[in-house]
Amino acid sequence: MALPKPVDVTEIPEWAALQEHFDRLQEEGVSLKRWFADDPGRVASMTFDVEDLRFDLSKNLVTGETLDLLVKLGRAVDLEGRFRSMVCGEHINTTEDRAVLHTALRRPKEQSGSFVVDGQDVVADVHETLASIYDFADKVRSGAWTGVTGRPIETVVNIGIGGSDLGPAMAYEALKVYADAGLTARFVSNIDPNDMAEKTRGLDPETTLFIVVSKTFTTLETITNAREARTWLLEALRDAGAIDGSEDAAKEAVSRHFVAVSTNLELVEEFGIDPKNAFGFWNWVGGRYSVDSAVGTVLAVALGPERFQDFLAGMHAMDHYFAHTPLEENAVALMGLINVWYVDFFKSYSHAVLPYNQYLSRFPAYLQQLTMESNGKSVRWDGTPVDCHTGEVFWGEPGTNGQHAFYQLLHQGTSMIPADFIAFVNTPNPTRDGEQDVQELFLGNFLAQTKALAFGKTADEVRAEGTPEEIVPARVFEGNRPSTSIFGVALTPFSLGELIALYEHITFVEGTVWGIDSYDQWGVELGKQLAKQITPALSESDAALAEQDASTRSLIEFYRENRTW
Ligand code: F6P
Repeated sequence: MALPKPVDVTEIPEWAALQEHFDRLQEEGVSLKRWFADDPGRVASMTFDVEDLRFDLSKNLVTGETLDLLVKLGRAVDLEGRFRSMVCGEHINTTEDRAVLHTALRRPKEQSGSFVVDGQDVVADVHETLASIYDFADKVRSGAWTGVTGRPIETVVNIGIGGSDLGPAMAYEALKVYADAGLTARFVSNIDPNDMAEKTRGLDPETTLFIVVSKTFTTLETITNAREARTWLLEALRDAGAIDGSEDAAKEAVSRHFVAVSTNLELVEEFGIDPKNAFGFWNWVGGRYSVDSAVGTVLAVALGPERFQDFLAGMHAMDHYFAHTPLEENAVALMGLINVWYVDFFKSYSHAVLPYNQYLSRFPAYLQQLTMESNGKSVRWDGTPVDCHTGEVFWGEPGTNGQHAFYQLLHQGTSMIPADFIAFVNTPNPTRDGEQDVQELFLGNFLAQTKALAFGKTADEVRAEGTPEEIVPARVFEGNRPSTSIFGVALTPFSLGELIALYEHITFVEGTVWGIDSYDQWGVELGKQLAKQITPALSESDAALAEQDASTRSLIEFYRENRTW
């Protein structure tokens, strides 16, 4: 079925209505203080409980009318219809002519029956792969899967980059209190040799298992690192006298210490990994949407199959909520629409994500690929140029660390940066500092920051504290700095799954409004091509050097002059 042409959103009356509304709000003066005072029902009407998460949208720069207009915009671009097209397997990734079915990765088997897309029974294949991953994970966790010398695995090293690294690395960090089988995981991604050197440092090759994860199995970084890991393993085993120098011994060692995850099982075999030690996935799973596919094998191993199932269940719960809740009450859709409001009307091109949970330290980095590789586009899905700004910069650091670094700019800088605060009521590490519960001290900071951003501090309030007049201006907080609070009961596999699906759908909402294909990533290709052309110029080829532009040439000459190894 042909997909509808993207709407030029800036040309439709719903956009014009938002612009008019925005202009009126600017004239009247945006004031969260006033809006809170005038509408005692504001918090209740902008708070949404989804499973174990509370979403408080009330500290955003929106009124009830703004939300109505944003919902109308969402309907005008047929958000609901496009989501249906996506989950039914239509090829909404137009530039690659692919279905976009990450939601099928977490559909419970019993509810799905057969679901055939492009001739493939998607749910059956997903569950067959999950069963083999769980079987493998159980074997590694129980010690039934051993290294070549018969010792159980103690460390799993995930080798992958982008979506084949960020999701698993973030989720492992987030959930490591659940890693209960005595196994630890490490993650190698960068082609910088320092990464592999540091991540293999101190490892015992006899108890180390590598999982090579690459959707394409052609990614330079991953294949180079996988080869290096193989060399490291074989040399270390030989040096320790654990294996002899024969080809057969090497093959046997690789088969006990390497497994792979890929859509390209032929290349896996070519690399030397036995296809029976490989877990597949499909081209309808985008790299940045793949943590819940076989790409999450390291999680199933480290955390156990049950936790991985809970993680998938959390994602599915959020999918179900997003798909079945009217836009007016749909916290996920509203968050996406409010983001468009900030980007295109307030011209706020940056968005902070601030987890008040140390275990979520990698969450902002993970979100950067999800959001920016998806929506950093200048053309619509039919190739026409967009007429508005797309793809804000997502970034962040866990609180309270950020408070002592960049919050100054959030509170008093000249740019308005909307922020999502993510916190949890409970901690697995309750502690007291004398009489003080440390978690409460921490959560007090989370609440204080959103309050300070929203309501600020007036010059009169500053004066009332006895501040000398000349420094009053420096101590004023103007407020009206928007934030959303996501407050969960606890960080669990389930709630982490919810958070990931939440941001996947926020990304979908923004991309749909902008009319862009959020599922391709052509913007990463040119750099890869040029790296192939430039690398020979670094040491070998003067002809390749001569082909470079003057700046690149001068940098390469500097490299050649200063190389010391
Ligand atoms: O950076 C481009 C990209 O293709 C990402 O989309 C992807 O997640 C990453 O490279 C890794 O790709 P692969 O899993 O094929 O190695």
